[in-house]
Amino acid sequence: MSKRKLSAMRPSDGVVWITGASSGIGAAVALEMARRGWQVSISARSSDKLDALASQHDNIVSYACDVTDRKGMQKTAQKIETEMGSLAMIIANAGIYLPTNFPEFDVSIFDKSFDVNLTGAVNMIAAAYPFMIERKQGQIVLVSSVAGYNGLPTSAAYGATKAGLLNMGEALAVDLAQYGLSVNMVAPGFIDTPATQKNTFHMPALMDVTKAARAMVDGLEKNRTRITFPKRFTFWLRLMTFLPRQLYVRLLSR
Ligand SMILES: NC(=O)c1ccc[n+]([C@@H]2O[C@H](COP(=O)([O-])OP(=O)(O)OC[C@H]3O[C@@H](n4cnc5c(N)ncnc54)[C@H](OP(=O)(O)O)[C@@H]3O)[C@@H](O)[C@H]2O)c1
Repeated sequence: MSKRKLSAMRPSDGVVWITGASSGIGAAVALEMARRGWQVSISARSSDKLDALASQHDNIVSYACDVTDRKGMQKTAQKIETEMGSLAMIIANAGIYLPTNFPEFDVSIFDKSFDVNLTGAVNMIAAAYPFMIERKQGQIVLVSSVAGYNGLPTSAAYGATKAGLLNMGEALAVDLAQYGLSVNMVAPGFIDTPATQKNTFHMPALMDVTKAARAMVDGLEKNRTRITFPKRFTFWLRLMTFLPRQLYVRLLSR
């Protein structure tokens, strides 16, 4: 097994493909990467929003697709390879947050969250993997959340998907390094996007989406295994993972 540090993909290595790029973090990252010279392919379900984003930069091309459609994702990957060039980086960013509100136990919240956030990411990896493994190079990026560090109120479904992405990504990073593929996990705190604009509670250290995109792309250029921002918030959530779990649950249940 090779022990050399894998280097980050560069725009000269090929194309980046980003899901969930019709708004929020995905759209901001697409623009940031296009500005840094990348050829960017963007996916989401809303083709009108994707087209509007693609019209803002020559380097951005729209490929509407639902991440839960495994065959559709495979066809999209093939289309990007044929029309734009080699997939050098994929960013599994599409995600939904559906709160769990008890005492009702709504299993559909879990099903939908797992399908989009977790299986959607698997579908993207599966679609791009044959091309990357053949070339023995590529960067797989999973957009998780600090909600994946600890169990949080109303986040039983969402948090499970985000913890799943962190664990799955780490395992893939370990297994795929020998084939020249790197895996980066992104764990943002609160970022100002259409998703968080629905929240009615106070969001500490809420970060501007353009700044967040810059921090994320900086981390990807350094090929950091875990990328997190804003640090003044995410640091505390990371620290909380070291609390005795009984104490943690008692504190959070209040
Ligand atoms: N904002 C935050 O504070 C924050 C913090 C931590 C992690 N995150 C994560 O960052 C990612 C982006 O979130 P955001 O805040 O930017 O949210 P957002 O603005 O709501 O964007 C979500 C994106 O996912 C796409 N999407 C949803 N379901 C999809 C599906 N089935 N197939 C394809 N695309 C789908 C949406 O597009 P369509 O509806 O057009 O399909 C949209 O482009 C998510 O994974 C989220 O969990 C966000």
